[in-house]
Amino acid sequence: MQLLQERRRLVLSGGGEKKIAEQHQKGKLTARERIDLLLDEGSFVELGTFVQGGLDDAGNLDIKNPGEGVVAGSGTIDGRRVYLFAQDFTVAGGSLGEAHARKICRVLDLAGQNGVPVIGLNDSGGARIQEGVCALNGYGEIFYRNMLYSGVVPQISVIMGPCAGGAAYSPALTDFVFMIKQKSHMFITGPQVIKAATGESITMEELGGAVTHNSTSGVAHFLAASEEEGLKQVRALLGYLPPNNLDDPPLAAPRDPELDGEELLGIIPGDSDKPYDVREVIRRVVDGSDFFEVHAHYARNAVVGFARLTGMAVGIVANQPRVKAGCLDIDASDKIARFVRFCDAFNLPLVTLVDVPGFLPGVEQEWGGIIRHGAKILYAYAEATVPKITLVLRKAYGGAYIAMGSRALGADLCLAWPSAEIAVMGPEAAVQIIHRRELESAAEPEKLQRELAQGYRRRFANPYIAAARGWIEEVIDPRQTREYLCRAMGMVSQKRVQRPPRKHGNIPL
Ligand code: HXC
Repeated sequence: MQLLQERRRLVLSGGGEKKIAEQHQKGKLTARERIDLLLDEGSFVELGTFVQGGLDDAGNLDIKNPGEGVVAGSGTIDGRRVYLFAQDFTVAGGSLGEAHARKICRVLDLAGQNGVPVIGLNDSGGARIQEGVCALNGYGEIFYRNMLYSGVVPQISVIMGPCAGGAAYSPALTDFVFMIKQKSHMFITGPQVIKAATGESITMEELGGAVTHNSTSGVAHFLAASEEEGLKQVRALLGYLPPNNLDDPPLAAPRDPELDGEELLGIIPGDSDKPYDVREVIRRVVDGSDFFEVHAHYARNAVVGFARLTGMAVGIVANQPRVKAGCLDIDASDKIARFVRFCDAFNLPLVTLVDVPGFLPGVEQEWGGIIRHGAKILYAYAEATVPKITLVLRKAYGGAYIAMGSRALGADLCLAWPSAEIAVMGPEAAVQIIHRRELESAAEPEKLQRELAQGYRRRFANPYIAAARGWIEEVIDPRQTREYLCRAMGMVSQKRVQRPPRKHGNIPL
């Protein structure tokens, strides 16, 4: 009994008082403090408390690294079960050795086998240098399980300190990555190695800080100002997600939007090129006006996130006319495709709001592979068998119209506002092609172009041509958007689809 108490005390104290004080001085919490903040009070059950790597020379267990630098276990968040691990920087810098990896693999297996989300709180110096290939193999075992349970249970990573080298690939294999400003850093090679290899000088924060990965690389999906805020965001995210791919997302009590739906009538500026914030539309439509945006700082010409309609959780995808006129580019394509695939894997119906002038023109985009990246959106929407509801707000031009959850790609219900312009291209570009000769010989070409564009808009770019063929189910009064979307959810939420058997498709990566 005494040995049990002593050993437990040793593990609970992690790297000891001095290391804990150092962690606090850096403005960081310890692994156990983080777990307490994340989970419902008193719900944590620790697993593998006495796991220990290595024997000393006399064959005794070598306990110089109490807990092996990671705390693992299970608990609840808002009463719903999760598995988790939290790397303990106070023990050997949270570095990952063989036993450390075994503890993580154990919670990944238990989460996968029980159909429960798994959360990793990362704070680690990477592969434990003294354990050499055993540490590397440990990472491999984790990566394998990240893949194995991908699409089976939601996997969430919170980066709360360093996450360097190949270690960064485990979070990258999970569904969502949270980062904390000034506190978390992710990179494959750090500033010193980069300096030596390429001569570039850069700080750790600029290279792999939370802002960089949220806004520039897209590696991270959420940016938090503090650890507390980050962990609160994790709890909020889980509120929208089912525990696994066989369950439905949790239902909530339906709530009316707080913002006035009547205002939707005037939300789109009369001039079809004027920008507006599509989130103003979303917030006037969804329950409680609550929109939980994902990847908010990355590829801002697209907006994705979670919300509720009549209490049912949905994934929302929208073009953002305020940024790059809402064009789809390489980064927006990756962002949308990944989100659509997540929603499809976890039974979250998709609601798509379309206002897109097309794929972004430019040599950089073409050479960067906009064809390959844009194809991901087409693939993801066509592949998704969850209920898909699409609403065209304004522009829906060319390939981008088809890509954004069109009927042809399997949308269950497509709606349009009267302001919808569904056409092969925008009026200005179109008249220049089909009326080139007339424009060349016109006395006042600009005036003629304006008139022709207006005629084109009336004849070719309205929602009724698509509606006549049934590709748009209904043209609706913007003020009735919520009502229609809620009814649509009721109509298609029981959808079941069988696809031809295959090992897996080959999404263009
Ligand atoms: C063993 C490590 C360690 C590691 C840190 N420590 N990283 N021990 N293996 N990888 C130990 C330190 O020796 C120190 O021990 C304690 O943890 C705290 O580290 P400090 O350096 O004092 O802390 P700090 O100044 O905050 O710096 C943190 C750090 C730095 C930036 C993470 O420690 C660092 O650069 N570590 C190495 C990072 C790295 O290159 N890792 C390998 C990445 S490659 P004492 O005894 O003094 O308390 C990789 C491959 C994965 O991970 C491949 C997957 C396939």
